[in-house]
Amino acid sequence: MPGNADATGSRVTLHVVSSLDGFIARKDNSVSWLDDSGSVYEAGVSVSEEEAATFVKGIDCYVLGSRTYEHALELGWPYGDTPTVVVTGREWPQARENVEFYSGDLSRLVDEKLAPQFRNIWLVGGAMLCQRFLELGLVDEIRLTIAPILLGDGLRLFGGSLMEERWDLKNVAAYKNGFVELSYAASS
Ligand SMILES: NC(=O)c1ccc[n+]([C@@H]2O[C@H](COP(=O)([O-])OP(=O)(O)OC[C@H]3O[C@@H](n4cnc5c(N)ncnc54)[C@H](OP(=O)(O)O)[C@@H]3O)[C@@H](O)[C@H]2O)c1
Repeated sequence: MPGNADATGSRVTLHVVSSLDGFIARKDNSVSWLDDSGSVYEAGVSVSEEEAATFVKGIDCYVLGSRTYEHALELGWPYGDTPTVVVTGREWPQARENVEFYSGDLSRLVDEKLAPQFRNIWLVGGAMLCQRFLELGLVDEIRLTIAPILLGDGLRLFGGSLMEERWDLKNVAAYKNGFVELSYAASS
């Protein structure tokens, strides 16, 4: 059964933003389309900066692949001082105090290293690392945000060989900027 919502109460949430046609980055890796503001969806909700900040404060730890890490350093670090684990097989200079590098078994990362310390663990990409987490059944919740754009080409979300598996829809939120967030829990 997928998921790691164990006795510690720790949960892994996979969060990514996808285009309508299922890409999470353009072919050249750019993600500037995430910031594009299209037309306003009047019935959508808007989130104030304070609300967004409060929400982000509830995240105890971020996990990301090394390519997402490189990109985040280039674009402007979005994870603040929250503890962040970068999964990589390479050696990296210590660019930020709150970043730790991890190489090895991903189930051990979650079960032995993260779950005992953190409750609300967010896996934020990229495609390769999300795919591995899903294959290993380490994800409790998928929060998929759909951006109102067709990219035509790029880095495919979940492009590999996942097994068929049903997930339960838990929430849908449509925002004024035309983005829609779908939240799914691993089916029990
Ligand atoms: N739209 C969105 O929401 C979103 C979110 C996140 C990222 N992105 C974009 O996605 C792109 C990056 O995604 P990506 O799929 O190319 O790469 P990624 O998943 O971010 O990183 C892949 C790297 O992670 C490491 N890794 C993955 N699995 C591992 C394992 N089991 N053990 C050890 N290391 C492992 C490897 O690092 P080493 O090569 O260092 O060993 C691998 O090369 C960027 O363009 C980024 O901007 C978009």
